[in-house]
Amino acid sequence: MTKFYELSPEKRRALLSQEGIELDEIEPTVLHELDQLSENVIGQLRLPVGVVQNLLVNNKSYLVPMVTEEPSVVAAANHGANLFAQNHGVKAHSQRDGIYGQIVLQENSGFVQANLQRELPNLIAKANTKFHSLVAHGGGVRQIDVQETTGQLVFLRVLVDPAESMGANRVNSILEFMAGELSSFPGISCKLFAILSNYPSQFTEAKVELDVATVGGVATAKRIALLSQIGEVDPYRAVTNNKGIMNGVDGVLLATGNDVRAIEAACGVWANNKGHYQSLSKWTVENDKLLGKIALPLAIGTVGGSISARKDVQQNFRLLGKHISSAELANVIAAIGLANNLAALLAIATKGIQAGHMKLQARNIVANLEATAEEKEQVKERMSAANKYSVSDAKCFLAKIREENNASRN
Ligand code: MEV
Repeated sequence: MTKFYELSPEKRRALLSQEGIELDEIEPTVLHELDQLSENVIGQLRLPVGVVQNLLVNNKSYLVPMVTEEPSVVAAANHGANLFAQNHGVKAHSQRDGIYGQIVLQENSGFVQANLQRELPNLIAKANTKFHSLVAHGGGVRQIDVQETTGQLVFLRVLVDPAESMGANRVNSILEFMAGELSSFPGISCKLFAILSNYPSQFTEAKVELDVATVGGVATAKRIALLSQIGEVDPYRAVTNNKGIMNGVDGVLLATGNDVRAIEAACGVWANNKGHYQSLSKWTVENDKLLGKIALPLAIGTVGGSISARKDVQQNFRLLGKHISSAELANVIAAIGLANNLAALLAIATKGIQAGHMKLQARNIVANLEATAEEKEQVKERMSAANKYSVSDAKCFLAKIREENNASRN
């Protein structure tokens, strides 16, 4: 019998329908495009693409696509970006010297570390010859360190520059090649594993210097700095602060076809860099300026993998500027993280987060009402005026509006 994964997506859908599962319509061309990206594909999940209109980074204005289902995220990023633009924007810098890989080998009694050490430059040269196309694109194996030998295992840490790509597949191929070369080296019995590490690398730093008047004055700026201090010592606050940063970061990662899981994992480790979990950003007040900075491990790419193949992603690159480099995109991502962070801190330090959130939430709630566009607009206005945002509030307002309209007609 043909296995589920061997079937065409239409046949998989037919099977599910036979089992009584109702499936949404999908364009055949879309279904086939998606079938190329994953396994057992039967449909799609749609998310909106929103735009941040003027993110000023290193004196260049960007249109930034963000993908998210959370209503306030794009609004928050726009708000933060607007505050930055009033203060000469963000200064950012990306260091793209490579991503890590690990090769772990089983040693035997004949193992001599100094001999292996002497072999490593040769091994780098061999790998760079074999993977010459990566070298031609400006990347390649940069460094290998013998990290540890346990008497049984040898740990090698390899640094590979993936050029403009994320590099996961390429790095894994390189590591397996190198592990193969080493498996017959004197004193080595076999390879235990060879795979990239998502440990933080490819760091981007972004910073802003804002006139305190931009956030409503020195008192508010000091509250923002205090919130930031709390995030240095209190993990309950730090993780929420970082969630706000990742709202922005993940939005741009998704829009540009980058691996959200890899960056989330690396940022989680990085937040523990000082031995306990902390905020990834820092805000201070100095000489009537609110200073904000962030450093994030952003092993992202602008080419390779599914990035070039996906039309939806390519549209987003057209917004960013078709020829954007990976370093430039990483600068934009860190700047957006900082923008989302500032917008959240500013709201928390002043009127609280719920006022803005609920206004946007109202839009989602009224969208699901069975009502005319005009009625929906009126319901939204009443929800916001009364500061009442539940589904039942919306239904009550709708009933009241209809009652009033009927009364005025009679
Ligand atoms: C909500 O998605 C994100 C915030 O909770 C972030 C924060 O508290 O800093 C608003």
